[in-house]
Amino acid sequence: MSELAWWQRGVIYQVYPRSFQDSNGDGIGDLSGISARLEYVAALGVDAVWISPIYPSPMADFGYDVADYCNIDPMFGTLDGFKQLMGHAHRLGLKVLLDFVPNHSSNRHPWFEESRSSRDNPKRDWYLWRDPSPDGGPPNNWLSRMGGSAWEWDEVTGQYYYHAFLREQPDLNWRNPQVRRAMDQVLRFWLDLGVDGFRVDVLWLLIKDAQFRDNPPNPGYLPGEPDHHRLLQTYTEDQPDVHELVRSMRATLDEYGERVLIGEIYLTVPQLVKYYGVNGEGAHMPFNFQLLSARWNAENIARMIRDYDVALPEYAWPNWVLGNHDNPRVASRVGAAQARVAAVLLLTLRGTPTLYYGDEIGMTDGYIASDQIQDPAELRQPGICQGRDPERTPMQWDGSLPNAGFTEGKPWLPIATATSVREQDGDMASMLSLYRRLLSLRRGSAALVRGTIENVVAEGDVLTYERRYGNQCLFIALNMGADAATVQSHAGMVLLSTVTTRIGDAFVQGANLLAASEAVIVIVDSPS
Ligand code: NOJ
Ligand code: CA
Repeated sequence: MSELAWWQRGVIYQVYPRSFQDSNGDGIGDLSGISARLEYVAALGVDAVWISPIYPSPMADFGYDVADYCNIDPMFGTLDGFKQLMGHAHRLGLKVLLDFVPNHSSNRHPWFEESRSSRDNPKRDWYLWRDPSPDGGPPNNWLSRMGGSAWEWDEVTGQYYYHAFLREQPDLNWRNPQVRRAMDQVLRFWLDLGVDGFRVDVLWLLIKDAQFRDNPPNPGYLPGEPDHHRLLQTYTEDQPDVHELVRSMRATLDEYGERVLIGEIYLTVPQLVKYYGVNGEGAHMPFNFQLLSARWNAENIARMIRDYDVALPEYAWPNWVLGNHDNPRVASRVGAAQARVAAVLLLTLRGTPTLYYGDEIGMTDGYIASDQIQDPAELRQPGICQGRDPERTPMQWDGSLPNAGFTEGKPWLPIATATSVREQDGDMASMLSLYRRLLSLRRGSAALVRGTIENVVAEGDVLTYERRYGNQCLFIALNMGADAATVQSHAGMVLLSTVTTRIGDAFVQGANLLAASEAVIVIVDSPS
């Protein structure tokens, strides 16, 4: 498997740093905490840790408002601490990926403070400043993803600036070559330190219409949806010029050898695959988020897998994401039993899986009382925006300890449920054991890591497909229903089942029974 890059062979594990492990009792996770848990992460069997932003930040959007791109927020630690963490990870064989947030900075970033100081400041053009429209209002109708107009009036210089997210997150002007150079230096700063790659925040939003045209109304808008859905994002997202920016980031990474560029992109599959670049010179992996919102039934998932495989250019490496810090947790979306099926799905599909911390123990969305809400997206769009706190609750390490062992202080968000790593550790039937088995099986299986995916079929509630490499064939069957079901199979042996007692059993040629919500990986005896 050596000719595949590490990020093609491997599995990525996302850590939301505020919530992984607190080491100093302030109730917020930090780098020492992450470092202390790296043995756990390595033993789980993943290959890379992606850490959401840890840069100095006023934390208006919990680190996605960066005030210094080349340092660490004191709340999380120090630059030296980060280097130690990275050294520790590398010694354990884990790669380290950072979150790169180039679309916007914090309004407290010195670049913005300079830009805002006067109209003729050399950094004025680093952000998107515009005069009011003739009626004195905002320059156009663009809406913020956090509610309201995307334009903020600035009294001092008498112009508006654009922010796709919070007003504390002014968008940078990527048409300005100085901005491009400054951001390129940021990439190089972390690459020089040894970082193995980046997940790039809102890559598809990076560049906006040069003429600042009004976005057209969205005919499909339904009342109650977030405000910005009132408009199609015709001039504020997925602009043709973005691809040149992606290429240039990739070119920088390529100078450093095997580093990975991953793009956060919420678009349709045909739009998404363009981010690989015309000849694969774009992002290594534009994140494939389809499973985050997929209707959970065999037919829909089968269609999704087939369509994605067909849409991918021949040079493009696929990837799948089951959870992240912006979406409800998989165990809450599909329920505990189907979350086990989802684990088998994620780790047997073709392409690199990304796993969200805590999903490996089946963490569910936490309950957040109204006076505990932290997420600015929810606080600023009450009743409209589904908050993101529930999926950001602290990692549950040990249910016998206060705050599940996450902190000795008061956690910044409540602990969601009682289950924990400690409780599941020795239990063969637990979610954690299932994930460990899956990760270990995947690691050793050429068919799973690099094989083709074929015969993706839904029959009733059962989804089946094959992973083939050389003369090996694995048959995967997922019962996505709440009743037992039969599945037609070749003869083989069960390598893994969500029903643990079944492992090692024979599968016969013809009809085999699957229990409710059972998923199996079968090694086929004599593949044709
Ligand atoms: C996407 C991030 O994942 C999300 O958490 C953040 O609020 C926005 N980008 C803005 O940076
Ligand atoms: Ca802390």
